[in-house]
Order: sequence, then structure tokens, then C-alpha cells
Amino acid sequence: MTALPARFRAFVAEKSDDRVERAVRELGPDDLPPGEVTIRTAWSSVNYKDGLATIPNGKVARISPLIPGIDLAGTVVTSDDPTIAVGDEVIAHGYDLGVARHGGFTEYERVPAGWVVPLPVGLSARDAMAIGTAGFTAGMSVVALEARGLTPDRGPVLVTGATGGVGRTALAILVERGYEAWASTGKAEAHDELLALGAAGIVSRGEVTAESTRPLESERWAAAVDSVGGATMPYLLRTLRYGGAVAASGNTGGVPFATTVLPFILRGVALLGIDSVGVQIAERRRIWDRLARDLRPRALGDAITEVTLDGLEPALDGILAGRARGRWVVRIGG
Ligand SMILES: NC(=O)c1ccc[n+]([C@@H]2O[C@H](COP(=O)([O-])OP(=O)(O)OC[C@H]3O[C@@H](n4cnc5c(N)ncnc54)[C@H](OP(=O)(O)O)[C@@H]3O)[C@@H](O)[C@H]2O)c1
Repeated sequence: MTALPARFRAFVAEKSDDRVERAVRELGPDDLPPGEVTIRTAWSSVNYKDGLATIPNGKVARISPLIPGIDLAGTVVTSDDPTIAVGDEVIAHGYDLGVARHGGFTEYERVPAGWVVPLPVGLSARDAMAIGTAGFTAGMSVVALEARGLTPDRGPVLVTGATGGVGRTALAILVERGYEAWASTGKAEAHDELLALGAAGIVSRGEVTAESTRPLESERWAAAVDSVGGATMPYLLRTLRYGGAVAASGNTGGVPFATTVLPFILRGVALLGIDSVGVQIAERRRIWDRLARDLRPRALGDAITEVTLDGLEPALDGILAGRARGRWVVRIGG
């Protein structure tokens, strides 16, 4: 017996010549990919990568048609895996989800058992998607910096792209953990909100992207969480304190950057790459468990915009246009 209905709704992106058509369609169980676990999706979220998956030349979608959505939370409706029971509340994200196989913008989805994360005690499915892949990446960034020795007494930490999904969550985690966390943003109108969240101060996007002929500047930051990349990276490297590190996860500000080796060889700084896609499932489950406890972001649930499958398009366009203010969550069956 299957608990899947004969028809259900999904948001689909399909390439057609040089365009991508985006629409909510009715699908059936045979349209879902193979996998041991079928999930009734309660919530998904909108990430920058989802925007890229729905535009021509976004270089993210590897199949067409594709149900985008790189993360989801919901309830198991069928399971062929002895460790995962029908009725379990779960999260799935990363790996090929929403990229090379269908993702979370659907009422039902099927995934391999090895991709499933139990919903941690203390988080609702909506909370989990308010954190989502962006917040998970923020958590990973903090874990990586602390594994290299960062502690609150080392000095101020700068978060770039601070109004975005990764940035805002990183700021909220750092503030909650007692760090002096500063926010870099390009949005003047967001300063008050970031200060209210607990930012110790604001640095303008202009300052962090300014060109400089100096390979090293005054030592300012103990660490940085950067989801912007591009022209911001040289600034971060030349202003890190001795032994500091940047956790680099994103490229909303560009891909290439030019720097020198001097921050590395004269100040012992490190550039830590953060990739949430391929993290092993055991580590993924551990970090989610911590996101419900000691990495829980401050004011989780604030700065959330709810959309439905029918209202996804403006959110996808908005995130690509840099209009993110916190997180968009997608109410599906929740
Ligand atoms: N490595 C991974 O596993 C992983 C996981 C998740 C996300 N990511 C990447 O991380 C990045 C952020 O993702 P997100 O979901 O947080 O996106 P988002 O919500 O759109 O946030 C990105 C933020 O970057 C800033 N920004 C936008 N355009 C910019 C520009 N031209 N120059 C400098 N800053 C700019 C804006 O913040 P301000 O206006 O406040 O400056 C914006 O809110 C993306 O590149 C995404 O692909 C990587």
C-alpha cells in the first residue's frame, strides 16, 4: 500500500530553448526519483542556488524538467529503511537534491535513506527550514572557525552579506554564542535591524569591497564568515588578525579575486572552504543537532517571509536580485 496520492502538486522548472519555464504542475508518484524514503513535504526554503536553478545560464540545474528546492522538511510516508519509520519527522538537503534530482518544492519527494536527517528535538519543521541550507552553512562556518581555535575572547568577527540567509544566520549564531559579531551589508536601511539582532557594529559593503594597494592593513578581525566572495575576499585577508581565518561559502559578490600570499605567510591566516553539499551524513546530522541546541540562532523565526508553491517566482527572482532580508520559507503541507 502506498501513502502517496495519485496526483500532487510541484513547482517545476523546465528548459525550453534559451528560456526556463517555471510553473506549478500536477505530478504522480512515477515522476519521483528512486529512493528508500518518501516524504510528505511540510516546508522548504528559498536559497540563492534555487534562484540559479530556475534561470538560463544559472549553471545549477543538471536535469530538465527539475523540481528545484535544495532543502525540505516533512514527514515520512513510506520507508524501506529499518532505521527510518513512517511518521518520522525529517530533513533532507544537500547532495543532488534540487540540482541533479528533484528537490523540495513539491508536496511529495523521494530520497535515498542515506540523505535523511532526523528532525532534531527542539526544532519544528518550519524552524528547520527557517534555518535551511543557508543557516546550516552558517553553522558549518562557525564550527570550522572554532575547530581552528576561534573563541569569543580572540576579538571581533565580521559577517559579510549580513542580511542574506547565510549571513544573517551566522550573525545570529555568533551573537548567541557570545561573540562580538559585526555585520557588513550593502543595505543602509537594514542597519537598525542588524543592530537589534545583536551586531556590535556595521561595516559598509563599500568598505569591504574597496580596492587597496596594501597587501596588509591594520589587524582588525579575529575571523570572518563570508558568503559574498569576489572583491570582499582580499579585504578580509588583509585585515585578519594574526592567526585569523575566513570561512568562505559563497559568491554573491563575484567569483574571482586577487590577493597576495602575504596574509598567509606573515600572519598565518587561513582560508577555510565551506561546502554544505557534500558533507557526510553523520556530520550533517551532528551539525543539525547542534543547530537545535548550542548553535541555535538568536531570534530564529524573525525575518522570515512565507510563500507557497504558487508564490515562489517573486521569491526566486528576489533572491537573485540581492533583495534577501533573512529567509524565505515555503509552506507546502505545513
Ligand atoms: N558553500 C555552500 O555550501 C553554500 C551553502 C549555501 C549558500 N551558499 C552560497 O552563499 C551565498 C549566499 O547564499 P544565501 O542563500 O545567503 O543568499 P542571499 O540570501 O541572497 O544572501 C546573499 C547576500 O549577499 C549580499 N550581496 C548580494 N549581492 C551582492 C554583491 N553584488 N556584492 C556583495 N554582496 C552582495 C547581500 O547582503 P547585504 O545586502 O547585506 O550585503 C545578500 O543579502 C550564495 O553565493 C550561495 O550560493 C553556499
